[in-house]
Amino acid sequence: MTDNTQHGNPSHKLESDVRSYVRSYPIVIKKAKGAIITDENGNEHLDFLAGAGALNYGHNNPHIKKHLIEYLESDGIIHSLDMATQAKNHFMDVFGDLILKPRGLEYKIQFPGPTGTNAVEAALKLARKATGRTGVISFTNGYHGMTLGALAVTGNKYHRENIPGIPYGDVTFMPYCRYTNTLDNSIEFLRIKLEDDSSGLDLPAAIILETIQGEGGINQATTQWLQDLRALCDEFGVLMIIDDIQAGCGRTGDFFSFEESGIVPDIVTLSKSIGAYGLPMALVLMKPEIDVWKPAEHNGTFRGHNLAFVAAAKALEHYWANDDFSKSIKYKSALLKEKLTAFADNFPQAEFSVRGRGLMYGLESLADRTLAGQIQKKCFENSLIIETCGSNGQVLKFLMPLTITEIELNKGLSIIRNACEEILENKTEQKRARKT
Ligand SMILES: Cc1ncc(COP(=O)(O)O)c(C=O)c1O
Repeated sequence: MTDNTQHGNPSHKLESDVRSYVRSYPIVIKKAKGAIITDENGNEHLDFLAGAGALNYGHNNPHIKKHLIEYLESDGIIHSLDMATQAKNHFMDVFGDLILKPRGLEYKIQFPGPTGTNAVEAALKLARKATGRTGVISFTNGYHGMTLGALAVTGNKYHRENIPGIPYGDVTFMPYCRYTNTLDNSIEFLRIKLEDDSSGLDLPAAIILETIQGEGGINQATTQWLQDLRALCDEFGVLMIIDDIQAGCGRTGDFFSFEESGIVPDIVTLSKSIGAYGLPMALVLMKPEIDVWKPAEHNGTFRGHNLAFVAAAKALEHYWANDDFSKSIKYKSALLKEKLTAFADNFPQAEFSVRGRGLMYGLESLADRTLAGQIQKKCFENSLIIETCGSNGQVLKFLMPLTITEIELNKGLSIIRNACEEILENKTEQKRARKT
């Protein structure tokens, strides 16, 4: 018998080279609670990554956990294809009452496969079916997932080019809000292209976008830009898909990231934290008139995980029955913004750009595109797990659990400050040494 066990080795010999996060954070994790991850040696790591946005309510949230245990102990059904279950119906009741109704949103809900990319695939298919058109407009730096339809609307070259010869279909990339300093109105540019019979751009089925680009570098669209895009979609009969997989579920301080702008998308994709406990779940929300699916046309085995329904409903009941949670996120967001702005002022040589909303912030050194990666590594050595994003990993990304305490928030920020200080001091020393 072969012994394939490799206790204590984060890079297990059986795992494919495709593994990624384990390379940046080479620990073997034993347990986690709130914003703290504990490795097998008992070391605690503060988590500013939060499952890439899948853990908005923190690890093993106690308000949710006890209901999951009760559900398991009662032999509540776990797998049910898309059959009706008490857990599923309860989730839909709660989602309707606490999320849709108070916001005046009338959406029907589709449960695709449980990951974000599954929701994006379903949304793109639906938009094409509903309009009878194939084209889709996506934006520079947009990230929507790794399956082929979602990858086709994803900008990142590393992900797009790694498999030669994939036909990505009828997708046109346009400049996102403030993509360049010289193009001051990318919506006007899109309008000109749509109006011009010789622009080469056919009338698309849909436009897909994130209101804050997460993987693409924490690029935030302005309210005006979103409203202008909504108006353009209405004028041309193009469906607007907001991918709220990372920026939704409270990340920006509101449940949906688009609430602040007042726009109403035709289709919304949600995943990551909608499953609330790190449990896999995804939703496609669609205006009722767009629900042109015929039974089983978009099928799948895992379209509704009952444990995720239980967790999701409890999270909504606990955190979204009133606006206390939203207020607490906005309060911590103001602290974070203030500290990051002061941080940027402290290190003028790094020329930091601070951007974001809610508890979704980015810090980019305009002077040194490698600095974010260096800070991330140093932070890991000092027990803080934080990710980078952007086309070249040039943006340090703040995506802590929304339930993080102020003490933990401050602790993480001081680890980052110390890391940055040490790196910049070393650089100055090296420069000095080279000169002498
Ligand atoms: C905005 C957005 N859409 C889609 C996805 C894909 O989700 P998943 O990785 O669950 O397939 C992601 C993942 O980071 C995302 O941030």
